[in-house]
Amino acid sequence: VTHPASPHLPARLAVVIPVFREAANVAPLVARLDAALAGTAWEAIFVDDDSPDGTAAAVRAIAARDPRVRCIRRVGRRGLASACIEGMLSASAPFVAVMDGDLQHDEAILPAMLASVERGADIAVGSRHVAGGRATGGFSAARGALSDTGTRLAQALLPVPVADPMSGFFLLRRELVEEAAPRLTGRGFKILLDLLLTLPRGLKLVEVPYAFRAREHGASKLDATVLLEFAGLLLDKATGGAVPLRFVAFAAVGAVGVLVHMVALSLLVGVFGLGFGAAQWGATFVAMTANFVLNNRITYRDARLRGAALWRGLMIFYLVCGVGAAANVGIAALLVRDGILAWGLAGAAGALITVVWNYAVSSTLVWRAR
Ligand code: GDD
Ligand code: MN
Repeated sequence: VTHPASPHLPARLAVVIPVFREAANVAPLVARLDAALAGTAWEAIFVDDDSPDGTAAAVRAIAARDPRVRCIRRVGRRGLASACIEGMLSASAPFVAVMDGDLQHDEAILPAMLASVERGADIAVGSRHVAGGRATGGFSAARGALSDTGTRLAQALLPVPVADPMSGFFLLRRELVEEAAPRLTGRGFKILLDLLLTLPRGLKLVEVPYAFRAREHGASKLDATVLLEFAGLLLDKATGGAVPLRFVAFAAVGAVGVLVHMVALSLLVGVFGLGFGAAQWGATFVAMTANFVLNNRITYRDARLRGAALWRGLMIFYLVCGVGAAANVGIAALLVRDGILAWGLAGAAGALITVVWNYAVSSTLVWRAR
């Protein structure tokens, strides 16, 4: 498709493109970049989370002919924000852009974005919500309403006014990314918001309008759990990163587990007529299983277990939680026996120790998450 003007010219602009299941969009996107960025030395860095549809192979086929294109293939990981961060950090061009790999972002505004940053802006944002921009057509009504709510929430928190803080289309000096990188959460899909909440105040931000296009190939990867991740990102920034997000999610799942336990217990006793002891065992088993499934889907979404690894993880999770429960009962009993705490506080202390234990051990043994 393309013939680099000079393969020896170092890139001035690196375009980072997170992709998951976008095989059919890769070649058209490179062709569009080539047309839009004629006259600029650019490179395209695709970051693929081991898509099963051959996305990485599609990038490599082009890269074999065009040295401006390369692919970072991440195995066993998922996440839009972390993919963008890794792509940006792999660049050496003085300017980096992030754009979607599904042709919904209009590459034709890249030169204007680059020009405004070259002229002194810190960051240029492709915006659907400024005069000339358009969001219609790209999203369903429900997704649109959700996006609007998120936008307002984000705007309230941000130190700089941005019409479209949820945009996944932006361009900035590479140094700024390097400065922010150690403090980015890398969670979820709002990489721009993460950056804006991390970088120093008083940034000069420019918004460049574009019309968000409808998707032609493939499907959106953003589902209901992205809402949770969004809430997590805001919480993380609001608390200055003091509370690990994963722990909050793990504890919240644990709270749901307590409810599941009580429901299961009352069913086993009331409906199935089990004795309390047996019902308590049964309810514990049901609650642990529910917690495992929820943690696998939410808390450790980016390291989700599937297939054989799922069953292996479940068995280890039972073991870990079993030890945690024994510790809970044992410690609470000791605290009460020695008169250190009243039974209510002792019970709470035991439960807290159990949650921390379960979290710490399953993070490393079950999910091997960072
Ligand atoms: N590497 C990687 N890993 N890429 C991903 C992942 C992931 O886990 N999830 C999604 N992507 C890629 C998609 O392949 C696509 O190129 C891009 O990230 C955006 O994902 P979509 O699934 O197409 O998102 P969308 O169109 O619903 O959301 C868009 O609008 C949001 C505004 O509300 C995106 O532009 C978002 O960035 C934006 O925040
Ligand atoms: Mn999209």
